[in-house]
Amino acid sequence: MNQRWTDVAALDAVPEDDVIGIEAGGRSLALYRVGGDLFATDNICTHGHARLCDGFLDGHEIECPLHQGKFDVRTGKAKCAPLVDDIRTYAVHIVDGRVLVDTGCRAAAAVPED
Ligand code: FES
Repeated sequence: MNQRWTDVAALDAVPEDDVIGIEAGGRSLALYRVGGDLFATDNICTHGHARLCDGFLDGHEIECPLHQGKFDVRTGKAKCAPLVDDIRTYAVHIVDGRVLVDTGCRAAAAVPED
């Protein structure tokens, strides 16, 4: 597996129960913080050209701002119409208060170190 860990943000830059947009490895990604865990997905909706970082995060679901499709940010699973395709997820790792994203693999949430 080709791991490409990229330092994308300070952990403090990702508010609890919120989403931010970031650029990493030439990709537009959305970074979510839910219950202290971090998740990353592609930022552009699989249905149209809308940025998920402009959407509404409710628990582990992100609602697209354009047609209100919803994805599970843990798995990338499309949850309702008009979505057909899931969204790609990325591994997240937290080191010394920095958020690292691996644009080369999928993985579950990263939990901040104590
Ligand atoms: Fe996201 Fe249509 S662009 S649901």
